[in-house]
Order: sequence, then C-alpha cells, then structure tokens
Amino acid sequence: FFALAMNVKMYENPILKGNIEKLKKYGYKFIEADEGLLACNYVAKGRLKDEKEIVDEIERFFLYSEIENYSNLLSGKKVLVSSGRTREDIDPVRYVTNNSSGKMGYSLAQAAVDLGADVTLVSGPTELKEPSSLKKFIRVNSAEQMYQEINREFKDTDIFISCAAVADYKPKEYHNEKIKKAEGNLIIEFVRNKDILFEMGQVKEKQFLVGFAAETNDIKENALKKLRKKNLDMIVANSAFNMNSNENAIEIIKKDETSQEFSQKSKQELAYEILKVVANEINNKNKNNK
Ligand code: C5P
Repeated sequence: FFALAMNVKMYENPILKGNIEKLKKYGYKFIEADEGLLACNYVAKGRLKDEKEIVDEIERFFLYSEIENYSNLLSGKKVLVSSGRTREDIDPVRYVTNNSSGKMGYSLAQAAVDLGADVTLVSGPTELKEPSSLKKFIRVNSAEQMYQEINREFKDTDIFISCAAVADYKPKEYHNEKIKKAEGNLIIEFVRNKDILFEMGQVKEKQFLVGFAAETNDIKENALKKLRKKNLDMIVANSAFNMNSNENAIEIIKKDETSQEFSQKSKQELAYEILKVVANEINNKNKNNK
C-alpha cells in the first residue's frame, strides 16, 4: 500500500500517473491523497489521508481480498448508487425528511470501487464522509433533484443500485417566507414525488436494477411486490428498524424470485455480499445471451 502525499503539480504529473497505473497492475494499492493545505502552502490535492481512513482502507482490503477474483469482479462496469435520505423543504427553515443514515449506500459505493467499478454516487443529506476514489459524487437535497441526477446518469450505467430512502411525498407548496405561527392547527398538503426506481425500470435497456425494501412487517411479501412492480433484477429486503444502525440482516431476492438470506453483519460486509450476487447474475446473463 502506498499512501500518497506530495505537491499537487507532482500529483498531476503524467509520468507519476503512468507509474502508478503500472504498479497497480502488479498488485500494489494506492490510497489517494486528500485536498487541503499542503506543506508548500498550496491548497490542493496532495495531503496525506487521515490515519483512520488509511487504516480503514487496509482493513477493507482484508475483507474483499478474500473474494475470489475480486479485482476483476466489477472491472469496467459503471455503477450508479443512490443513497441517503431526501429533504423536502416547507419554507426556508423547515423541512421533512426521514431516518436513513446513508450507511448502506455509501458502503455499496465504496465496495463497488474496491471491486474495480467506475462508481457515481448520488447522495441526499448524510453525515458520512465521501467514499474514496469515486468517479463522481453528486450531492442533492430533494427527491426531484435526485430524480434529475439519476435520470441524467442512468443511460451510461451498467448497474443502478437504488439505496436512497426517497421521500414519497413533498409539500404541495413551498413558502418563500417562514410560516408564522398562528392559533389552531397547521395543515400542510403533500403531493406524491416521482418513484425514481420505478421510472428507471420503465426505461431500462441493458441496465441491471437493484432495489431495496425496508419494511416493518411482511418483509418478503412486500419486497416481492416491489421487485415485480418496479421491473427490477434484484431486491434487497431488510427490516426498517436497521435503518440507522451499522449492521443489518438481509434477504436478496432475484428476478426469478429465488432468494438468499444473510444473517446480521456489518453493512460494509453485506455490501460485498450484495455485489458478489450482482456480479454473478450479470455473468450468468451474459453467458446465456452468448
Ligand atoms: O416503494 P418503496 O419506497 O418501498 O421502494 C423502495 C425502493 O424504491 C428503494 O430501492 C428506493 O430507493 C426506491 N424509491 C425511489 N423513489 C421513490 C421511492 C422509492 O427510487 N420515490
């Protein structure tokens, strides 16, 4: 492992980049530098990553390097992940949102990078740090903004993993000024947001679609309904009570409605398990098409 730290001009030098690519082919790993104040007084990319993140990257390596053929599992694949909650504004100071932490989606984006994919992450508000080595990181607030970004990226995507907890409703009206309190109750009318995953299911061509179903009851039954209705290739069913936790237990249901259960483990470990199943499905699909 090389944890990089240097002057930005050296960092961007094509000779250095070429040497890094060469070393990667021999199995060396590179932990990219962060942006920030450099020793030479520039504010640019070239700062050594935080020690905790360096340790995290090395620890993750011990998880995914167990996977057979890990470095080729998703190489050349374009993966789009939506993650986090959305925020629907009522007025300049108030909004409605939900409990999603974004941990599962961020773990999936990071795992896809680790397994060789080009990853774009579209994220609603979260308190999490951006995963490393993404191709693109797009921040949004509302469901409508998330729809616009996903829709733009979707054409050029091989695998779309819809992990975001998108608000189903938004306030019918946005008040430009703060709503004043008055006597009696306040009634706010809500209207439906677009179901982003459903919309992508309608226009999909080559894309492999993965949905999530966080349920409080009848988990499998509800997940199956969504798999069919949204035209998905796979759905990950789980309990909504795990939304904010570091761990989860899941059941992966495939298009043919066969399923596989994974017991309670970290969202990071589950992310590799989910992507292993996705890669396997895509390989089988390609073999059958030949
Ligand atoms: O129908 P339900 O919201 O339970 O479905 C969950 C799945 O649909 C998740 O994959 C979620 O990311 C996606 N979804 C969406 N847009 C919405 C609501 C849900 O993409 N407005």
